[in-house]
Amino acid sequence: MKPKIYGNGLYKIFGGDATTAIDLLKAGQSKDEIYAATGQTVGVRDVSFKVAEGEIFVVMGLSGSGKSTLVRMINGLIKPSAGEILIDDVNVADCSDEQLRNVRRNKVAMVFQHFALFPHKTVAENAAFGLKIRGMKASERRERAQAALEQVGLGARGDSYPDELSGGMQQRVGLARGLASEPEILLMDEPFGALDPLIRNDMQQELLELQRTLKKTIVFITHDLNEALALGTTIAIMRDGVIAQTGTAEEIVGSPADDYVAAFTRDIDRSQVFAAASIARPATPLDLATDNAEVAMTRMEELGIDAVHVVDDGKLAGIVSYRAASAAHRDGLDLKDALTDDFPTASPESLLNDLYPLAGTEYPIALTDEKGQLTGIVHPQDVFQQLANEEEEEEEKEKA
Ligand SMILES: Nc1ncnc2c1ncn2[C@@H]1O[C@H](COP(=O)(O)OP(=O)(O)OP(=O)(O)O)[C@@H](O)[C@H]1O
Ligand SMILES: [Mg+2]
Repeated sequence: MKPKIYGNGLYKIFGGDATTAIDLLKAGQSKDEIYAATGQTVGVRDVSFKVAEGEIFVVMGLSGSGKSTLVRMINGLIKPSAGEILIDDVNVADCSDEQLRNVRRNKVAMVFQHFALFPHKTVAENAAFGLKIRGMKASERRERAQAALEQVGLGARGDSYPDELSGGMQQRVGLARGLASEPEILLMDEPFGALDPLIRNDMQQELLELQRTLKKTIVFITHDLNEALALGTTIAIMRDGVIAQTGTAEEIVGSPADDYVAAFTRDIDRSQVFAAASIARPATPLDLATDNAEVAMTRMEELGIDAVHVVDDGKLAGIVSYRAASAAHRDGLDLKDALTDDFPTASPESLLNDLYPLAGTEYPIALTDEKGQLTGIVHPQDVFQQLANEEEEEEEKEKA
């Protein structure tokens, strides 16, 4: 599928003509060397990335690594020194002012850490800010702002003033302002950076919840790896203006591209990152339409297992134990009569930590997708094994 946002070979050099600096970079010089030689600052160097429609693309990195420069290039606030950046089919690095205005008004909204709420305006007026210059009538502005406030759970607070709200609520007003323009893309630059950790966690969960219905394309900046892992469909890790690695949370934590990324991920609790699918085994279900109790027994004997899942019309229908299958066979009953539906199921995306409470039952955990299809099974011993491995690693780290 065509990406919603596509950055290709992007550079940003601050301070004067960029060609010399880019040549020096290509010749292998570092950011510091270039600063010493030319007085120019390398903001972003040779960055390429793709953001799919509807995903949360997290850009993570230390202070000064180029995150803000990158998002400002996406909405055209900063012009790249080289490279292109496409939003749908428009190259915002090189388009007419008219096209750029159109992108900013209709496609992209930005939410900041210091979201600059006006203290003397009400919450509703703050949320509506920016709609007027788009030439929207007062009644429509009010409607849009109210709808956006409702989305963020502040529908009843439109008449309040910002200082009457908590930090988390104020941040939601900032988000509502972003949503009020009904953008296709939300750019969020450290939006939760100023919140204390517990509220920050809540806001992350709320954003994920909201995103389930909104399905916006979101570029989210943070320098907190836990936040990145919690939110990111895809995560790009930046260092000194380059993207050191792009991948899913599992890819970043499971196979860090270099020592820099590895250093970030060292203290991460893997059971919070790895999904059930990562330790799943392929399912070998029986089919109600074609298999009987005797086939079930044979299958279990062959595989050395004592229970097997059964599907019906592609969907998971239940599980049959060896004992139930042999009783049904003896009594001349159908496989259907031997099924039980009393077994654990989970989604392939659920985290290992969430599987732990399910791993205590006698049956394996069935992973089913939203259509009810069996995508794999997880053996309880694999859950315990994985969690135990991590504890060992933790202990070794503590010793070291
Ligand atoms: N307007 C500017 N003029 C000169 N240098 C700049 C400018 N904006 C950014 N820089 C430099 O570019 C580099 C990247 O800055 P940027 O603001 O993109 O980093 P960041 O990752 O967003 O950092 P932070 O986490 O502190 O917000 C830094 O070295 C910074 O000093
Ligand atoms: Mg920044």
